[in-house]
Amino acid sequence: MCGIAAAALRSKFRMEMIPLLLEFLKALEYRGYDSAGIGVYDEVNRRIIIWKKKGKVESLAKILRNVRVRAPIGIAHTRWATHGIPSDINAHPHTDCKNEVAVVHNGIISNFRELKEKLEESGHKFVSDTDTEVIAHLFEEYLKSMPPFEAFEKTIRSLKGYYAIVMITSKDPTKIFFARKESPLVIGRGSKGYFLSSDMVSLLGSAEEVAVIEDGEYGWITEDDYFVTGKNRRELSFFKPSWTPQQAMKGQYEHFMLKEIYEGPTAIKETLVGILSDDNIFKAAEMMDEHVVAVAAGTSYHASLIFSYLYMKHTGKYIITLDASEAPHYKNLLRGTVIAVSQSGETYDTLKAVRLAKKNGAKIIGVVNVLGSTLDRESDISLRLRAGPEIGVAATKTFLAQLTILYALTYAKVGMDLEETLRPLPEVVKESLEMSAGYAKALANKLYQKRDMYVLGTGISNFVAMEIALKIKEISYIHAEAYPAGEAKHGPISLAEKGFPVLIAWTPEDEDKLEVADEEFSSRGSEVYWIAPEKDIPIPKVSWEIVPFAVTPPGQLLSYYLAIKRGLDPDKPRNLAKSVTVH
Ligand code: AGP
Repeated sequence: MCGIAAAALRSKFRMEMIPLLLEFLKALEYRGYDSAGIGVYDEVNRRIIIWKKKGKVESLAKILRNVRVRAPIGIAHTRWATHGIPSDINAHPHTDCKNEVAVVHNGIISNFRELKEKLEESGHKFVSDTDTEVIAHLFEEYLKSMPPFEAFEKTIRSLKGYYAIVMITSKDPTKIFFARKESPLVIGRGSKGYFLSSDMVSLLGSAEEVAVIEDGEYGWITEDDYFVTGKNRRELSFFKPSWTPQQAMKGQYEHFMLKEIYEGPTAIKETLVGILSDDNIFKAAEMMDEHVVAVAAGTSYHASLIFSYLYMKHTGKYIITLDASEAPHYKNLLRGTVIAVSQSGETYDTLKAVRLAKKNGAKIIGVVNVLGSTLDRESDISLRLRAGPEIGVAATKTFLAQLTILYALTYAKVGMDLEETLRPLPEVVKESLEMSAGYAKALANKLYQKRDMYVLGTGISNFVAMEIALKIKEISYIHAEAYPAGEAKHGPISLAEKGFPVLIAWTPEDEDKLEVADEEFSSRGSEVYWIAPEKDIPIPKVSWEIVPFAVTPPGQLLSYYLAIKRGLDPDKPRNLAKSVTVH
């Protein structure tokens, strides 16, 4: 998944093009950071200039430090490689044979090979291994015989796959062409001009209003206007972004991840305000019929597992919970009510499951953080987190906000008082963070050189163990694996040996089972540590239902401090991206 952005600037702001594009890229970097690049139209020398570099945006910014260009239009890209290894030549923007076109793209062009062959046969020379480059040459080919917008229209009509594209040509240096097919794209406007981006967060400092480009729409922007077509509308519905630029900054924290861990209590509080401000949660509860399926990926999947467990405990009914990437194998189950949980609202696998479910006539309840995201718009009811932007690749505060919504949904279904049951949650998280922070850091200092570890749980803490293991894997690269405590003796305990670390995610549901697992491992020389009241990483004593809010935050801190101790960047872990909008 990549980040794309573009700006069409009014005359007096055109010397700001390069710093503005870099600002967009810095805010988009969480979407991928294998390479970065920008392309602008230099209106003095009347030509397109491109700078692009393997590595993070900082490397690109270094080579642009003393560059001054007056540019009416510019595009930018930060890459998560799908086709072609991360390299300078495979970085976006890509151009045509004559350097009269520049394009950046997020998604996959599934028919690029056949297009590339035909273009090479007609003499086009390709320089990269990417699918994206074919878009530039196709546009070049059509520009030979038609005006730019018609050529652009013909270009995108030739593409298969899914994409968000922004493209410029020196044949019309007033316009930036855009097209959206599944991959996210928003448009913004403000005093400086018009903008395009993969997400709203990056535009917060420049756009006073934003609007979502819908699937299948395309058009252009200029410094003071836009045109959109492709579906049945000509006017976009602009709105003021609900997030502020400050929310998308690190503030006094060294990393977004640490800031967002400590924003957990506020994320819950704000989400609770949202829940209580309308009756969506009750409408959603009403919509849940006899056949309910939850579908999600990664951390959102773990939140769904906790939801399914809690719901079963309260109603005796089981909510089938599917890992989104596997959901197509269960398409016969994707009917009735489908609850899709996704922070970004753009996860390809989750959206694919939602579309399969809709084909089966299912009603969709979305649980989503990003307003205007695809899931937000494709759900019959969208239950929105109010966690604010989450920039760190690791989901932290949004996991707790998702749980808040899912707990509210369960309690609404069984007629429990939402305010009374949910009001204490922020304080539980706050107290857990305060009690555990120093101990989590100390334990990270002990464990940071380990290669493998287990995280054991039981009952509701099984799913907390899975979430903590994911955090540790994705942020510190230590191979942490979660198991039900009782399951360990059916094979996993073969890894027990002197110095093998085991973390216990506590719950009061069956402490004996956790104690036995501790004994089984310790007696074989393993180092067993508990996230539990009055134990290695102390937390408040809570009921089994509240365990996820007390045990998860210390696990998030532990993964953060493990990464720091190992000299890693917790905000930009290798090979990952914040929202996986590709297969
Ligand atoms: C969690 O820390 C990871 N970043 C990842 O597993 C994430 O939860 C998953 O990709 C789902 O993202 P979504 O909630 O935006 O759909």
